[in-house]
Amino acid sequence: MKNSPVDELLEFVRFPSVSAQSSHAPDMRACAEWLRARLTRAGLDAQVVPTGGHPVVLAKSPHVAGKKTVLIYGHYDVQPPEPLELWETPPFDPQIRDGKVFGRGSTDNKGQILAHILGVEEALAEGDLPVNVIFLIEGEEEVGSTHLSGFLETHREELACDAIAISDTGMAADGYPTLSYALRGIAAMEVRVSGPKMDLHSGVYGGAVANPATVAARLIASLHDAEGRVAIEGFYDDVIPMAEWERQAAAESPLKDEDIARQTGVPELAGESGFSAVERIGARPTAEINGIGGGYQGEGSKTVLPASAFFKVTFRLVANQTPDKILDLAETHFLRNAPPGVRLKIELGHGGFPFGIDPNGAEGLAARRALEEVFGRKPALVREGGSIPILGHFSRILGHKALLLALASPDCHAHAPNENFPLANFHAGIRLNRAFLREFARTR
Ligand code: BES
Ligand code: MN
Repeated sequence: MKNSPVDELLEFVRFPSVSAQSSHAPDMRACAEWLRARLTRAGLDAQVVPTGGHPVVLAKSPHVAGKKTVLIYGHYDVQPPEPLELWETPPFDPQIRDGKVFGRGSTDNKGQILAHILGVEEALAEGDLPVNVIFLIEGEEEVGSTHLSGFLETHREELACDAIAISDTGMAADGYPTLSYALRGIAAMEVRVSGPKMDLHSGVYGGAVANPATVAARLIASLHDAEGRVAIEGFYDDVIPMAEWERQAAAESPLKDEDIARQTGVPELAGESGFSAVERIGARPTAEINGIGGGYQGEGSKTVLPASAFFKVTFRLVANQTPDKILDLAETHFLRNAPPGVRLKIELGHGGFPFGIDPNGAEGLAARRALEEVFGRKPALVREGGSIPILGHFSRILGHKALLLALASPDCHAHAPNENFPLANFHAGIRLNRAFLREFARTR
């Protein structure tokens, strides 16, 4: 018996395809294999292609000469599910409540990419696929797409296309059609502060030896000034200010600062002065601490002066900042601000360029028509704060900027406990795929 689309989504979400955790490597392969089989059943020629990391799934519709080709990109890897105790139902045992599928990866990105697969399957079954389609579904998006740019280089010819479509971004409001015309870039770094050659008795030595945990905290605090601006010298040098029409679009966005306060549950919003929260998220660069550690974390008190401490930081970038330059400036900043009593070990991590398209170009207009057709109103044009690091490589290697057709709801809890995907978005996504392919086929 044929499974329903919703059953298939549940099946897909059941794979604990956590790219960051090496213990899940077998689950990654199993999930890729499931996708290959699913794409084959949809009528595509699908394969699992090994890379230096997690495999890529590549599939093509039967080629029809004279038709344009659309590459649809997505990812089957998911963020780690921790902290597990905050999930109402287990992350990899997806459940439906209130018309939403709850599970890790339900929105980001399994539900969204499966909607595209089902749209293409439907069109193929009806003999009505208006373009050739290539699916490129990777397993390392959540860890910086390390091996995908090399894959694009080696498969450049096979991946030749006329447009790239992605649903891996957020709607400005529930059910509100949204074209994300810009995303922030990213640059990651880890800093380890070490001092004494071992943990010390904090009474015997404290006061005479720099405390690495204190130094880590001071370095972290040095990242921002009192106005909420990033205090690294040169950090804003390459930032292109928002155009007037962009500030207008941000002010008119159905996403309001109050929504962000409600979604996050904070007592008050914070950030760089002079900008709304919507602007701070979409169009301003930031420095965020993602993790911090060192010293005794167990029960009760332990009088120790820790030998080391660490923090993980990511910078979100906007045009025309570049990951390499920002990491360079940050490294200089930390080295300059560390006292002589400690040593710093700085590890540079993944990076991705900021991204933007002209929403009034032929492709952008086709995407906007498709969004309007499916959701029944003019789409919001937004800049979003998240990053899809491969987008820069798509432009450089495949020669096309991606169209970001949002399907994630504002309350999707991506990367957090209780991630969920409304079934309404899933079904709309199937229709959106068909509408977009049709609209794009008509462009010249
Ligand atoms: N789907 C997100 C990116 C996103 C989220 C774009 C919301 C726009 C709005 C993607 O899966 C993601 O989370 N990317 C990571 C990339 C990072 C790990 C290199 C991100 O933005 O943190
Ligand atoms: Mn994500």
